[in-house]
Amino acid sequence: MPLAIEARKLDIGYRGEHHDVKVLSGLDLEVEAGRLLCILGPSGCGKSTFLRVIADLLDPLDGKINVLGETPHAIRSRRDVGFVFQDAALLPWRTVRENVCLPLIVGQNSLTREVADKTDELLAMMGLAAFVDRYPHQLSGGQRQRVAIARALLGEPRVLLMDEPFGALDEITRDRLNDELLNLWRRTGTTILFVTHSIAEAVYLGEHVIVLAANPGRLVANTDLRPIKASGNRCSREDPAIIAKMAELRQALERAS
Ligand SMILES: Nc1ncnc2c1ncn2[C@@H]1O[C@H](COP(=O)(O)OP(=O)(O)O)[C@@H](O)[C@H]1O
Ligand SMILES: [Mg+2]
Repeated sequence: MPLAIEARKLDIGYRGEHHDVKVLSGLDLEVEAGRLLCILGPSGCGKSTFLRVIADLLDPLDGKINVLGETPHAIRSRRDVGFVFQDAALLPWRTVRENVCLPLIVGQNSLTREVADKTDELLAMMGLAAFVDRYPHQLSGGQRQRVAIARALLGEPRVLLMDEPFGALDEITRDRLNDELLNLWRRTGTTILFVTHSIAEAVYLGEHVIVLAANPGRLVANTDLRPIKASGNRCSREDPAIIAKMAELRQALERAS
């Protein structure tokens, strides 16, 4: 199985004029293509910074990071990596359809038939067929996040980075979007790295869950959940094995904070 993400002795952080601020150090991580990995860790431990490095929005300080066997920079131009943020970050003066297809038509004058069709198809898949001509302020928070996901999927990314995408949503909406995301992942086979504050969400969604610690930032746990899940990464939130795993991860997270 080829690796989607490979980090070796990776140091990440921010370069300063006088000294660098190291956020995470010595990170060793392998994520096989097609996996769904959830990332837990206290606020400020470097979860977002790690995703930024994968997306080539930030250079690593030291060590190696490969995405689909290449450097983040090499992979970026091919739109193989999609990013969904906590805040959907939609353009308020653009319709839902325009928000989704804008990244693909920037630099071109017009929308091709092909892109328009694919945009509408993705929006239909996300349950937004009736909303394509609406503006972001006319949508609920959950609908806006669906638009952001559709936008990230338009380039058919092989790796999808999701940074607390459902963190601002109510629990019912979040649970529903979790199931939609799982269906989407099963259909597309996209590798997903999903950052969340919610232990329950991490255990429900992830095939693997890693826990990062702060001060100093490092990887402290890497759990494979596949042995306690059914095929297709299916599980029940009430399954005692799932609940036990949540308790175990809560302890790891408490130690990490
Ligand atoms: N642009 C930046 N310059 C310097 N330090 C930053 C910058 N962005 C974030 N940081 C610091 O890096 C650390 C990790 O941030 P972040 O990756 O956003 O954490 P998390 O997503 O886990 O909450 C924090 O201490 C934060 O203050
Ligand atoms: Mg963050």
